[in-house]
Amino acid sequence: MCGIVGYVGSAQAGPILLDGLERLEYRGYDSAGIAVLSPEKGLQVKKAKGRLKVLSALVDEGRAVEGTIGIGHTRWATHGQPNDVNSHPHLSQDSRIAVVHNGIIENYVEIKEYLIGKGIRFRSETDTEVVAQLLAYHYRKTGDLMTAVYRVLHRIEGAYALGILCADMPDAFIAVRKDAPLLLGYGQGCSFIASDVTAIIKHTREVSYMEDGEVAVVKADGIQVYDALGQPVEKERCTIDWDVSAAEKGGYAHFMFKEIMEQPEAVRKTVHPRLKDRRVVFDELKVTPDEIRGLQRIVIVACGSSYHVGMVGKYNLERLLRRPVETMLASEFRYCDPLVDEHTLVIVISQSGETLDTMAALRQARSLGARILSIVNVVGSSIARESDEVLYTWAGPEIAVATTKAYSTQLVLLDMLGLYFADILGSVKPEEYESIIEELQALPAKMEEVLENTEKIKYLASVCFNHNSIFFIGRNLDYALGLEGSLKLKEISYIHCEAYAAGELKHGTISLIEDGTLVVALCTYAPLFDKSLSNIVEVKARGADVVALTDDSHAEELRKTVGNVLTIPDTHTIFKPSLGVIPLQIFSYYMALQRGCDIDKPRNLAKSVTVE
Ligand code: M6R
Repeated sequence: MCGIVGYVGSAQAGPILLDGLERLEYRGYDSAGIAVLSPEKGLQVKKAKGRLKVLSALVDEGRAVEGTIGIGHTRWATHGQPNDVNSHPHLSQDSRIAVVHNGIIENYVEIKEYLIGKGIRFRSETDTEVVAQLLAYHYRKTGDLMTAVYRVLHRIEGAYALGILCADMPDAFIAVRKDAPLLLGYGQGCSFIASDVTAIIKHTREVSYMEDGEVAVVKADGIQVYDALGQPVEKERCTIDWDVSAAEKGGYAHFMFKEIMEQPEAVRKTVHPRLKDRRVVFDELKVTPDEIRGLQRIVIVACGSSYHVGMVGKYNLERLLRRPVETMLASEFRYCDPLVDEHTLVIVISQSGETLDTMAALRQARSLGARILSIVNVVGSSIARESDEVLYTWAGPEIAVATTKAYSTQLVLLDMLGLYFADILGSVKPEEYESIIEELQALPAKMEEVLENTEKIKYLASVCFNHNSIFFIGRNLDYALGLEGSLKLKEISYIHCEAYAAGELKHGTISLIEDGTLVVALCTYAPLFDKSLSNIVEVKARGADVVALTDDSHAEELRKTVGNVLTIPDTHTIFKPSLGVIPLQIFSYYMALQRGCDIDKPRNLAKSVTVE
């Protein structure tokens, strides 16, 4: 979704802002803009619809704007068409205040009407412009920018991260946050703001995360933060421990492929520190064994691929714990008057830690008394900070919109959480626990094995890419896996595809199977292998072309029925989706490549979905 970057220092701001915006491109956007301020040229605002290269050309790669202080923005349209006028930064009527904004101002209509009544003319259809105009209005009335900022904050409702540049304040800009991420970066003789650390990691790894209601005055020689009441706040700094190369392509054509290949290492980093003496140990958890024994129910909430992790988790955790586990879409959970209380553990899963629906579900569950444990990739993100407990996936920055390594690390961490609880509850026999741990340790190497065999998948994509309707079928864990396989394929290749529980096909959907329909049949879940085989026979009898996935032990049997069989190494049942997802990711990647799609930045999508 939208991205913000801001810089003040001694270098020219234009190129630094453009570089930062380029690093935020992966979040998804449809237009971009910058505002740069200099004593001689004043406030210069340039913005353009489309890819960043359009803006970059407009400002001669940043050289056409002069000044050592500025703010920049990539916009993902919510209020008003993606066009030059609706792009950020937005200016006040007198063109002395420029604002960039992530989030939504919910009461913008009434504020706009109020300001129009005061004779103020609006240029855009956006909610953001009201912030610039209201700020200028109060600034004119009070003569003090900070007072005006606080007045605006009292008036606006919704979610916002704001960067504010004023022609009367040439050495500082202002940053504000409420329910939308914003961090402060401390450089050598320069300072930054960013909605995402990737925008500034090239310049500094020293950052602090703004809290809701805080206002920061950002100058080259330091940043002063104030709380919602205007009292100074001492911010804790932290050091980002990954470097700039982690957010670059490193020789790969696409971030998605690089991130697919990084999965064994990401899983290793996530698993190994939490394995001691062949047991899962979570030093970071505060929940006591007695509290775990007292849990009556587990509810997993998440969106998109993180929800699919939760779908696998339902099967695996119920199997390990013999306790009820329910997985819900966060966007549904928040409106269904959910049955959770203090005896419920709510597990919140999110790569970005900023997904608005997931955040809202978390807050609702917490207000009902549930204990919140989140599985998050982005350190210091809103979901991480608002949870009772956080387990971080150590996947590193994930840039491609289509998640791969974050999915894999979330999945393995959820499995480990299940094992940890099972150990305390004594719900898994010691021999089985032992064998699962053995497979867990072997998982990264087995993932590497899968990644060594991409040629066949590439070939299959080259013969399948013209299909325009594809079904993924599977039972139990394979159904949950199919949900992810199908989402991956549709989001980057734009092919219509659906995932079905294989046994459900005959209740309606099988009518869509005809000559040449492509069916991806997932048969990694050994206990139901024969049943899945029957479903393959059913769709083949109706003319479907089938590509199937199974483990080494069942490959020969499956080849008697299906010509195109992909395989994964044998492993414990609970880890089948962890291996099985990799061929599906690679298949999606090559299908999208064949179709000439924008793999890392699929149309209409954003990496971090911070609107409802
Ligand atoms: O950051 P989150 O894990 O909360 O994001 C949730 C979904 O938006 C995300 O998983 C989305 O479905 C993926 N981009 C799909 O690849």
